[in-house]
Order: sequence, then structure tokens, then C-alpha cells
Amino acid sequence: MERTFVMFKPDCLERGLLGRILSRFEEKGLRLVAMKMLRVTPSLARQHYAEHASKPFYPSLEEFITASPVVATVLEGPEVIRVVREMLGATSGLKALAGTIRGDYSSSRQMNLVHASDSPESATREIDIYFLPAELLAWDPSLACWFQAPSEV
Ligand code: CMP
Repeated sequence: MERTFVMFKPDCLERGLLGRILSRFEEKGLRLVAMKMLRVTPSLARQHYAEHASKPFYPSLEEFITASPVVATVLEGPEVIRVVREMLGATSGLKALAGTIRGDYSSSRQMNLVHASDSPESATREIDIYFLPAELLAWDPSLACWFQAPSEV
């Protein structure tokens, strides 16, 4: 079992797509272990997107990500970091394949609806930025036994 940080960005909430996109992760069988709605501040944006802070698109990214509330979540499942990235598709909605979340709902490089960690190191770092350890709830949904065989988890 692995955990990843997934953030539903301002465009997702403004467009009323949160429920629809969250459903795709639930239907896949990924387990929600933490969830909160918040407003990203400029300093939180710089911390989260530290690796992009010197890039030309950063000022626009910061303006976008602080413009409206976001919903931060932690999802759990086997190989969940890779699985979620593949469900999202390429960074740009213009390049993402049809059938992926960005391919189906985004036509933008910046307004790509959802952020997800790209490695185990990023997942640990990003989960720590947005959540206290006590906010992560380990639980066993009663239907979990119908999503994977015991030998797979
Ligand atoms: P995300 O997966 O959250 O990681 C960094 C974010 O920066 C990315 O999604 C986009 O929202 C944004 N981004 C990446 N590349 C560009 C770009 N070339 N121009 C504008 N925004 C970008």
C-alpha cells in the first residue's frame, strides 16, 4: 500500500468538477485517508511548488493556485502514485489523452484541475506540508476485499 497527495485545484472547484473527479478515484478503488478544503496562500504555494519557483510561469501559477479554495486529499492504494498520475494524464490538458481526467476536462497547461505527487519522496513532502499525522485516517472499507485479492495488498 502506498499514499499520494492529490489536490483539487481552484479551476476544479470553480467549475463544479470536484465530485465528478473524486468519483473517478473512488470508483477505481482508491481509498481516501485525508481531506480538507483550504485557501492556498502565496507562501504555501512557494513551499509546495518550490521546484517551479524560478520558472517563468511561476507568478501566473501562484496567482492561479491562490485565486479560489482547493481541496487537499491523501489517497491510498497499491502503486497509487503511478496509478493517479496515469489517471490524470499529461500535465497539459491539450496533450493529455482522451479518457484521462485532464484529457476529458482540461484544455490548459496551467488549469489542469488536479495536482498529484510524482514520486514517493514528493508524496511524503507534500502530505507533510498539508496534513498533520493525526489528520491521516487509516481505515479498512468493508468492500476492500472486492477490489484486490489478499495476495495483492
Ligand atoms: P502540477 O502537476 O500541479 O505541477 C506544477 C503546475 O504548474 C502544473 O501542474 C501546472 O498547473 C503548472 N504548469 C506547468 N507547466 C506550466 C507552463 N508551462 N505554463 C503554465 N503553468 C504550468
